[in-house]
Amino acid sequence: MTDRIVLAYSGGLDTSVAIGWIGEATGAEVIAVAVDVGQGGESLEDIRQRALACGAVEAYVADARDEFANDYAMPTLKANALYQGHYPLVSAISRPVIVKHLVKAAREFGATTVAHGCTGKGNDQVRFEVGIQTLGPDLKCIAPVRDLALTRDKAIAFAEAKGLPIETTKKNPYSIDQNVWGRAVETGYLEDIWNAPTKDIYDYTATPEFPPAPDEVVVTFKQGVPVAIDGIAVSPLQAIQELNRRAGAQGVGRIDVVEDRLVGIKSREIYEAPGAMALITAHKHLEDITIEREQARFKATVGQRWSELVYDGQWFSPLKRSLDAFIEDTQKYVSGDIRMTLHGGAAIVNGRRSDTSLYDFDLATYDTGDTFDQSQAKGFIELWGMSSKVASTRDQRAAGK
Ligand code: ARG
Repeated sequence: MTDRIVLAYSGGLDTSVAIGWIGEATGAEVIAVAVDVGQGGESLEDIRQRALACGAVEAYVADARDEFANDYAMPTLKANALYQGHYPLVSAISRPVIVKHLVKAAREFGATTVAHGCTGKGNDQVRFEVGIQTLGPDLKCIAPVRDLALTRDKAIAFAEAKGLPIETTKKNPYSIDQNVWGRAVETGYLEDIWNAPTKDIYDYTATPEFPPAPDEVVVTFKQGVPVAIDGIAVSPLQAIQELNRRAGAQGVGRIDVVEDRLVGIKSREIYEAPGAMALITAHKHLEDITIEREQARFKATVGQRWSELVYDGQWFSPLKRSLDAFIEDTQKYVSGDIRMTLHGGAAIVNGRRSDTSLYDFDLATYDTGDTFDQSQAKGFIELWGMSSKVASTRDQRAAGK
């Protein structure tokens, strides 16, 4: 039987050419796999037709938007995950859901190998292949751009020679990856890290310098997950979409960073993640009143480690699974409402309420009638400073003072 390869297919020039390119280089049949994670653009049906027209023997398409929002974006929100303190892992969390569908398609169509369109310089090749190895240890991986010398020029020449139904003239100077959680733009003019991004780079956000009137929004959470916006019930996908629209209109969630790739390169990336950043802000503020201090402090370090693991392609790893269990446990009481104003590029929280809050007005108040016994603070401070005091006495003695 002819060998079969499933290919992660976007519908764009590179992966459209990859269908025939892989076929010619390996003699295998190619099955195109397109997964909708909310990237917008063409319909799955149009993408399926193009895959078949480009020579795929089968096309597998999946609307994974809810799956992506529920099982990938929500854990990212619960972790308040920001790689290097900035990046809400937009591309990093879409790879594992695509991997799941690639492995499923490989099983359905009896493929031995999984192919993807990544280069040999980025994180995404790692995320795809580590994920595939983990979910399908018997499957092989191939990346035509990296392993079969499929350059951009060769792709254009191939598409024209074979008359593939794909535009070859449209030159986008940037490499863009997007889904409902956000959008990532790199390369070209942005590679000079002193160059400020030009207006044409943005798509999910309007210019924050000229915002419309402030937009006040109330987000209701249940156990760490948004369940209503302004009192109207929403699914996780709808919550992200609605805040992409409203926070995006105010220019919230623009990020310009030089980040550390797993392969050891520092690279410049522009992100826009209005919904994600507004949700993370609201979620964090709700945690501030519902999670006990020590648990909250520890959770911040867990969230950071979680972000690194996910960035580094370890979504399906045992450590990530264990950290998920910890994070999930912390979300038990993260329920309530957060009110925030979206305006001029910022999402500013200005009100919070929760039935499971730890905020105790009677303890906190500076008005008369508070229940906090200040006399106990004196002894507490004495003991709290004791070990440093003992050490410093020794230090001074040793220094001969
Ligand atoms: N640097 C980001 C990451 O590794 C985004 C990668 C995809 N970006 C792109 N513009 N094609 O997660």
